[in-house]
Amino acid sequence: MSERLAELRRRHAAAEAGGGEERRGRQHKEGKLSARERIDLLLDEGSFEETDKLVRHRSRDFGMEDQIVDGDGFVTGWGMIHGRPVYVFAQDFTVFGGSLSETNAKKIMKIMDLSLKTGAPVIGLNDSGGARIQEGVLSLAGYADIFLRNTLSSGVIPQISAIMGPCAGGAVYSPALTDFVFMVEGVSYMFITGPDVIKTVTHEDVTKEALGGAMTHNSVSGVAHFLAHDDAECLAMIRELMSYLPQNNLDGPAHMACTDPADREDAALDSLVPESSGVPYDMKDVIRRVIDDGRFFEVQEHWAKNIVTGFARMDGRVVGVVANQPAFLAGCLDIDSSVKGARFVRFCDAFQIPILTFEDVPGFLPGTAQEFGGIIRHGAKLLYAFAEATVPKVTVITRKAYGGAYCVMGSKHLRTDVNLAWPSAEIAVMGPEAAVNIVYRREIAAAATGEEQEAVRRAKTEEFRDRFANPFVSAEHGFVDDVIEPRQTRPRVIRALKMLETKVDSSPRKKHGNIPL
Ligand code: HXC
Repeated sequence: MSERLAELRRRHAAAEAGGGEERRGRQHKEGKLSARERIDLLLDEGSFEETDKLVRHRSRDFGMEDQIVDGDGFVTGWGMIHGRPVYVFAQDFTVFGGSLSETNAKKIMKIMDLSLKTGAPVIGLNDSGGARIQEGVLSLAGYADIFLRNTLSSGVIPQISAIMGPCAGGAVYSPALTDFVFMVEGVSYMFITGPDVIKTVTHEDVTKEALGGAMTHNSVSGVAHFLAHDDAECLAMIRELMSYLPQNNLDGPAHMACTDPADREDAALDSLVPESSGVPYDMKDVIRRVIDDGRFFEVQEHWAKNIVTGFARMDGRVVGVVANQPAFLAGCLDIDSSVKGARFVRFCDAFQIPILTFEDVPGFLPGTAQEFGGIIRHGAKLLYAFAEATVPKVTVITRKAYGGAYCVMGSKHLRTDVNLAWPSAEIAVMGPEAAVNIVYRREIAAAATGEEQEAVRRAKTEEFRDRFANPFVSAEHGFVDDVIEPRQTRPRVIRALKMLETKVDSSPRKKHGNIPL
């Protein structure tokens, strides 16, 4: 017995030592924490239960028989975040570069299977050189087995990925299949093919950082959702995100006690929208004044800034906020913002998170780049996402709601439950200036001088604005439920969400829809 106990202790210690002092030192020197340090920071103190600490790889090739590390380089198990269970795996770069083997892939599969059966989120901390080269197809099989589980778990349990080191080749597809991807600045990168291959094939010179660094994927490609400056910040951000998420698709997010009064009015909202409809303002000011304590957890802050997405609470209940941002591209919808908004709306709908939409959108962005890039197909994603969503939906139109974009952004016609408009709302087929140039083209041309033409244009624009570009016509049709004073937005939205708490809605039975991809 004492021998076995000694062996157990020795093997546990070996697993904890990973690739050894020197490699761990290298990891620290690069500004990275070890896999175990990361798990400690991620989970509630003392809550980690490790699985498969004694697993060993079975490779007998390329000298691997002499290189056995207990646990085979991945730390897996479960623990608590804010007192709720989560499953976690962390790749230890000090053991064979965190590479994925047949056996450590099975460790991940085991916790993924448990997470699905028990209905709790999975968090993966990635830091890996990819498929373990010595294991060949066995490691590829491991990836594919994980991809299958990522796909089957999608929409059932939240899946979170943090990229905290290399993540290259096909290995990127597991994070890509998960709901939210965090990246750490300076130490993490993701790409399908690295700079050397790119240089050979396309003769482009590009650094690892520029190609697939944290800011590239947060601001250019839209692959990542969150940017952290170091490991500790990344793990703290994951903990914060988890506070907004439910455990699974049947659970609904946790409610929190709220000290921000539900009936709080904010007079500043009455004058926040500029008098002139061409002048921008920051929609995040509106959001922060309406939500609990101004606390907004933004998702994809750096990408497609013309739409804003993120989590907030209203009277202690989690909502997903989707908002046009007039401060960027005048709040136009384009390819990237459509994709960003659609993905977020679908996440909220899958996980029973009500959607609160703030709308100020002049339309879809014109131009050949957008048309050739497929704005028709990408814009349709956002439309589809809003239309299929059956969670409580509340829309507030602050200013422009023009054309197709009016229909898309949580309009009544896409079964939004409560639609409110501010008096500054302009709901029309297009902006008054563009409309007048089409409808009154002859009258304008008939004017004798340029000055007179301008006078006709101005008069007709005012006439059009009074007649069409206001919220009252829509309210008369019942397409907005009420025109409200901006200061009353918070209490009115909270009352709407409370009324909608018992909402039940459904769509026709089908295997799955065919969202335009
Ligand atoms: C086995 C690996 C490994 C791998 C690294 N190591 N990657 N062992 N399989 N894939 C080992 C190294 O031999 C080294 O061992 C240790 O990990 C650290 O690696 P270094 O190269 O010293 O570290 P660094 O200089 O920081 O470079 C990191 C790296 C580089 C950029 C990740 O190691 C690298 O390019 N690795 C190969 C990446 C790759 O091409 N992977 C396959 C991708 S394709 P020692 O003993 O010296 O410490 C793929 C397919 C997935 O993953 C398909 C899914 C469908």
